[in-house]
Amino acid sequence: MARAAGVCWTLLMGCVFAAHAVTFEVIDGNSTCIKGELNASFSISYNTTNGTSVSVFALPASASVSERSSCGSAAVPPELALVFGDTHTHTLSLLFSRDQRLYRVSNISLQYNLSDGDIFPQSSSAGVQSVMASVSELMSARLNSTYRCVSSSSISLSAAVNLTLSGVQMEAYMSSANLSADESVCSADQPSTTVAPPPSTTTSPPPIPPVPERGNYSVTDGNGTVCVLALMGLQLNITHTTTQNQSVSELMNLQPNQTTVSGSCGVTESSLRLSDETTNLTFSFTMNSTTQKYYLSAVSVSALWPDMSVVFEAGNTSLSALQCSVGRSYVCSAQQMLSVTPVFSINTFRLQLQPFNITANRFSTAEECRVDQENMLIPIIVGAALAGLVLIVLVAYLIGRKRTHAGYQTI
Ligand SMILES: *[C@@H]1O[C@H](CO)[C@@H](O)[C@H](O)[C@H]1NC(C)=O
Ligand SMILES: *[C@@H]1O[C@H](CO)[C@@H](O)[C@H](O)[C@H]1NC(C)=O
Ligand SMILES: *[C@@H]1O[C@H](CO)[C@@H](O)[C@H](O)[C@H]1NC(C)=O
Ligand SMILES: *[C@@H]1O[C@H](CO)[C@@H](O)[C@H](O)[C@H]1NC(C)=O
Ligand SMILES: *[C@@H]1O[C@H](CO)[C@@H](O)[C@H](O)[C@H]1NC(C)=O
Ligand SMILES: *[C@@H]1O[C@H](CO)[C@@H](O)[C@H](O)[C@H]1NC(C)=O
Ligand SMILES: *[C@@H]1O[C@H](CO)[C@@H](O)[C@H](O)[C@H]1NC(C)=O
Ligand SMILES: *[C@@H]1O[C@H](CO)[C@@H](O)[C@H](O)[C@H]1NC(C)=O
Ligand SMILES: *[C@@H]1O[C@H](CO)[C@@H](O)[C@H](O)[C@H]1NC(C)=O
Ligand SMILES: *[C@@H]1O[C@H](CO)[C@@H](O)[C@H](O)[C@H]1NC(C)=O
Ligand SMILES: *[C@@H]1O[C@H](CO)[C@@H](O)[C@H](O)[C@H]1NC(C)=O
Ligand SMILES: *[C@@H]1O[C@H](CO)[C@@H](O)[C@H](O)[C@H]1NC(C)=O
Repeated sequence: MARAAGVCWTLLMGCVFAAHAVTFEVIDGNSTCIKGELNASFSISYNTTNGTSVSVFALPASASVSERSSCGSAAVPPELALVFGDTHTHTLSLLFSRDQRLYRVSNISLQYNLSDGDIFPQSSSAGVQSVMASVSELMSARLNSTYRCVSSSSISLSAAVNLTLSGVQMEAYMSSANLSADESVCSADQPSTTVAPPPSTTTSPPPIPPVPERGNYSVTDGNGTVCVLALMGLQLNITHTTTQNQSVSELMNLQPNQTTVSGSCGVTESSLRLSDETTNLTFSFTMNSTTQKYYLSAVSVSALWPDMSVVFEAGNTSLSALQCSVGRSYVCSAQQMLSVTPVFSINTFRLQLQPFNITANRFSTAEECRVDQENMLIPIIVGAALAGLVLIVLVAYLIGRKRTHAGYQTI
């Protein structure tokens, strides 16, 4: 049995003024499954006694979650139903669906009562009208993330009814009573650089996510011996065409605790594969036994992020990045960009890595990347310069003192 709670958002303004944002929460037993807020407005044309009229009105903040709402079951999809209207009730309802990685609003319906003279003055007919539309592409988000879309989007529910949604922040299929901190931001909210861009040729700067968390990844061979070790924060940068037909460069941090690790080990070839719900990423390492160096020789990715209409796949098998001596671990504390293809790069943070010759399941002696060495060189140079300066001052002082001393003696 669904227990429902509707809350007013604007406490001081009161709920009487049909301002905007409506907050809602659908609770089943003790667990919350749908929660959030949204602004909605309607444009509905109806027949009047002397022609047709269009009524434009906002979903009032006093709208409340109706008993019809439910968290769903195996056979029944979760539903958020919001009722509004003082004398006659109108109902806006969203139905949700999900798959392995995404949830979405799959269906929107509206029941409106033409007898409501406040909204539909001089309506020639009375009674409840029902309209409904399937909207699978409208609002989708990763599971365990909050869908956010400040921008407005309009949907035609029928020839007579248009619905505009804005300021949406909500989550369905919730795993706790609070909205997830992780957000799926709609593509309309992602700023685009050029004015009036032709489709699929512009790149827009995405919101910059924070520095990725450092993951501790290891691959173990059949005998239980660790053969690849990696300690690093990874941020993927993929340039792709969104479902809105816009080209964006999107950044995504790999969440270590949501990543599964696999891989393979060989004498001169080994690999590390990192997977989460939306992304598969494989690093291949090669050892050159002539030069006694190993390096990152190939990277491939396949991703299906919320904004992508098709699976994004990219790779490069002729890389020679992260070069290091065999028997050492490669270390790069500075942020580094691995350019894999023109549309795919990886930013690495605080990296330590060893794909060959691991003994005792631990990293061997570190070999610093060039950027780190240069970064270390600067303080050394500055330090040496300061030491030199101190020496000069000291020598000058001693010479000066000796002269003064000599001066006194002549008197
Ligand atoms: C949604 O409604 C709130 C409360 O009235 C308002 O402050 C906000 O600007 C609205 N957001 C959008 C995107 O219209
Ligand atoms: C809800 O929580 C209360 C108190 O925490 C508990 O007594 C009750 O059994 C719970 N009900 C369900 C359906 O879990
Ligand atoms: C709904 O939107 C369509 C397309 O923007 C427009 O042609 C139509 O007049 C609108 N209908 C109403 C009732 O606002
Ligand atoms: C208005 O009336 C006409 C015929 O009188 C009908 O075809 C039309 O569907 C009506 N429109 C609405 C919005 O009820
Ligand atoms: C219908 O009549 C009312 C007054 O009776 C008037 O205010 C309204 O503008 C009229 N509408 C049309 C479409 O003529
Ligand atoms: C969502 O979170 C719940 C609880 O933390 C977890 O059981 C579930 O596997 C997660 N689902 C996804 C797709 O991450
Ligand atoms: C793993 O075990 C197999 C036989 O069980 C052995 O031939 C092989 O040398 C072992 N590999 C390592 C890395 O110890
Ligand atoms: C992401 O890739 C694009 C295209 O190569 C590039 O312009 C942008 O600077 C990159 N962003 C970051 C943060 O690496
Ligand atoms: C994963 O890590 C993030 C950040 O530390 C944390 O907020 C989240 O709860 C963790 N998720 C799981 C399933 O442990
Ligand atoms: C190893 O490096 C040497 C010198 O750079 C090169 O000539 C050789 O082709 C490399 N071998 C392999 C297997 O890549
Ligand atoms: C990642 O790999 C798994 C297993 O091979 C596959 O089921 C999944 O579809 C892949 N995901 C993507 C986004 O390619
Ligand atoms: C690395 O391992 C290979 C094969 O296990 C071995 O032949 C080689 O001597 C090792 N090199 C170092 C520097 O430990």
